[in-house]
Amino acid sequence: MSEMKRLAAERAIDYVEDGMIVGVGTGSTVAYFIDALAAWKDRIAGAVSSSEQSTARLQSHGIEVIDLNAAGPLSLYVDGADECDPHKRLIKGGGAALTREKIIAEASKTFVCIVDPSKQVPVLGRFPLPVEVIPMARSLVARELVRLSGGQPVWRDGVVTDNGNLILDVHNLSIVDPVALEREINQIPGVVSVGLFARRPADVVIVGGEPPQVF
Ligand code: 5RP
Repeated sequence: MSEMKRLAAERAIDYVEDGMIVGVGTGSTVAYFIDALAAWKDRIAGAVSSSEQSTARLQSHGIEVIDLNAAGPLSLYVDGADECDPHKRLIKGGGAALTREKIIAEASKTFVCIVDPSKQVPVLGRFPLPVEVIPMARSLVARELVRLSGGQPVWRDGVVTDNGNLILDVHNLSIVDPVALEREINQIPGVVSVGLFARRPADVVIVGGEPPQVF
């Protein structure tokens, strides 16, 4: 699948334009995008990064990383996903970077999602849904998630997010109304964000292949 990830990532370079500040996601597919973006480092104004991991990779290529507050609204955000449905709604957060990813997606005019074919599903929920929680609310949020969704939350042991929080992964879901579930989970006190990108889905999805499929 790594070849498919690379093909999707390299196709996303077509959306980069001179002078842009590019929003950059997190993960192994995005790593290929960052490597391809290196050829553009003197043509773009810089990048806004969604994680310490992506920041390190961007800087290793000499790409300037800019704070989102200084950058303002972005034209383009490129990121991967753990699942993608036919309506471009996503599950993200397998790399625990969901909150910063969601902030940058919201700040961006065009969100280009790059995936390998294994990420495409008819209905979201086969991949356990990540939820970032404030540490003291972990048990409370887990109980509420069971009540709300019927799924089984599992604490991602040993993982602390870049924001100092914890991740609960909710297993055994079949998410028929992702917009409603996103809204309901967001209202539980102690939830920082949920890895459902349904209210603000991707605008363009690139599925790696020869040639990549764009929808
Ligand atoms: C990180 C993410 C990633 O985009 C998602 O986990 C996909 O990762 P990969 O490209 O390594 O398959 O949401 O929080």
